[in-house]
Amino acid sequence: MKKLAFFDTKPYDKLWFDRANTGYEIVYFETKLTARTARLAAGCDAVCAFVNDTIDAAAIDILYECGVKVLALRCAGYNNVDRKAAYGKLVIVRVPAYSPHAVAEHAMALLLCLNRKVHKAYIRTRDFNFSLVGLGGMDLYGKTVGVIGTGKIGRVFIDICRGFGMQVLAYDPYPAADSGLDYVTLDELLERSDVISLHCPLTKENRHLLDGDAFAKMKKGVFLINTSRGGLVDSEALLEALNSGAVRGAGLDVYEEEADLFFEDNSDIPVLDETLSLLVSRPNVIMTSHQAFLTEEALADIARTTFMNLDEYFSDAPVLTNEICYHCDRRKSDPDCLRNRRERCWQPIKD
Ligand code: NAI
Repeated sequence: MKKLAFFDTKPYDKLWFDRANTGYEIVYFETKLTARTARLAAGCDAVCAFVNDTIDAAAIDILYECGVKVLALRCAGYNNVDRKAAYGKLVIVRVPAYSPHAVAEHAMALLLCLNRKVHKAYIRTRDFNFSLVGLGGMDLYGKTVGVIGTGKIGRVFIDICRGFGMQVLAYDPYPAADSGLDYVTLDELLERSDVISLHCPLTKENRHLLDGDAFAKMKKGVFLINTSRGGLVDSEALLEALNSGAVRGAGLDVYEEEADLFFEDNSDIPVLDETLSLLVSRPNVIMTSHQAFLTEEALADIARTTFMNLDEYFSDAPVLTNEICYHCDRRKSDPDCLRNRRERCWQPIKD
């Protein structure tokens, strides 16, 4: 029986992975996967990791020394993995799609709550304060939403926004062919949108895509929604934009320094991150702790796809459906990419 070391386990992970298990011995660890904890995987054939595990070159070398063969990410994003360091040592598989509806619906939930101040009204009415003063919002109907990243989640979010009668502008360096979307430059999107929602991955190139310069270009009073990755937004610049009124409100499911805080109950310890403290204390900021994916459908999909990925690997399938490597970003333009030839990203050297 193959053995799987499962890091950063939460009760809901265990529930859905135990249900979907196709025959692995799973060792659950609550700790995150880092170079300091990687040795816990000794004796395991595979590890399963999540968004805030730190799978850098040091962690990869330890996993490799311990005999781990495959890293199964139970998420879509892989910015926390040093894919170059893993090449030739650890096969990486991921879950590229799991209910894009879960994330897109959460993005709209943040926008609706923020715009109509539902979070404030909830607290007021519990205290029998039925005043409406300060609870005004705007119609979303007829407003312009700028969607950055038009992949699976971005497209579902666009459909939802169209249902509200919003005009949609899109920016994506790789526009979807025949989508009929109104693609514009990033600058034009920033200048014309009443709401901006991020749906692109975090890469080395787009860190702080929304920085002080970008906020300066935005329409005054824009709403910002980020359900993608915290590193896409310069949080200090966002705070300044909120302070000046340039940004009317922000709905944030992610935060650039979330790794040591999110998914945990930190209510008993002082959180020393001043930017985070200032953001969460603002009445026009709603922060959720990377929960956009958290629906029953998504959790079931994640577990099912993770086991499918592992089953493919251990049954020596010639191609791994959801494998990634550091060449993958330029796959479309790379004639040497093995996946384009319907092979695995790399093959271990045979003795
Ligand atoms: P996807 O791969 O289907 O689409 C991503 C799109 O972003 C692609 O069309 C790509 O061309 C585009 N893109 C790449 N670089 C860009 C850039 N610099 N500017 C604008 N667009 C760019 O990915 P999917 O499934 O739609 O997910 C999007 C992101 O959502 C993920 O990368 C992840 O960071 C985030 N996510 C967040 C979750 C949460 O619980 N908060 C859960 C799942 C994903």
